[in-house]
Amino acid sequence: YLLTAGGFLLGYVFGSIPCGLWLVQAFHGIDIRKYGSGNIGTTNVFRTVGPKTAAAVLAGDMMKGILALHIISKFSADPVIVAVTALGALLGHNYSLFLGFKGGKGVATGLGLFLYMLPWGAAAGLCVWIIIVLITRYVSLGSVIAAIVAASAGWYLNYPAPFAVFGTLACLFVIIRHKDNIRRLLNGTESKIKPGHLNDN
Ligand code: G3P
Repeated sequence: YLLTAGGFLLGYVFGSIPCGLWLVQAFHGIDIRKYGSGNIGTTNVFRTVGPKTAAAVLAGDMMKGILALHIISKFSADPVIVAVTALGALLGHNYSLFLGFKGGKGVATGLGLFLYMLPWGAAAGLCVWIIIVLITRYVSLGSVIAAIVAASAGWYLNYPAPFAVFGTLACLFVIIRHKDNIRRLLNGTESKIKPGHLNDN
């Protein structure tokens, strides 16, 4: 139980690191939460300041979850402990310690965690995401459908049950955190993605 709780806390602290907020602050001197969708994730960073910082945010948000899993796996290979650590990381990103329990939508962090735990689910989700975003230019639509595909794949591909359970919970959190996006998609006011260049240097 100690390792399970420790894994959750480790994941939560790593996941809490708000890469988008801090990198945009450092490179562009602005608070990303005041622009675009107000989200701290890769999409809103791309939309507001452009692709270079967005790539760094994507890498950071993916790596923080992977790093937490890498560390906990040194102590235990128990799939329950790994899955609980992953859940901690996702919750940390969405409800960050550093942001008064506000945070992101868990897509990039989830992608990193899926790559580690459910790699074929991640691959399937990523393919679907790319196709939907290229065709519709709605990143949120791509993210929600990709999460559903990736989580479903987890159940069909012979991964440990705790990993599949994690995948489904992660998918539910992605959907919950996209509720404003889903509302905008339904009433036709969601913004299509194009790169921004605010305060670029
Ligand atoms: O990863 C988040 C993306 O699906 C939506 O981001 O900024 O358009 O709400 P945003």
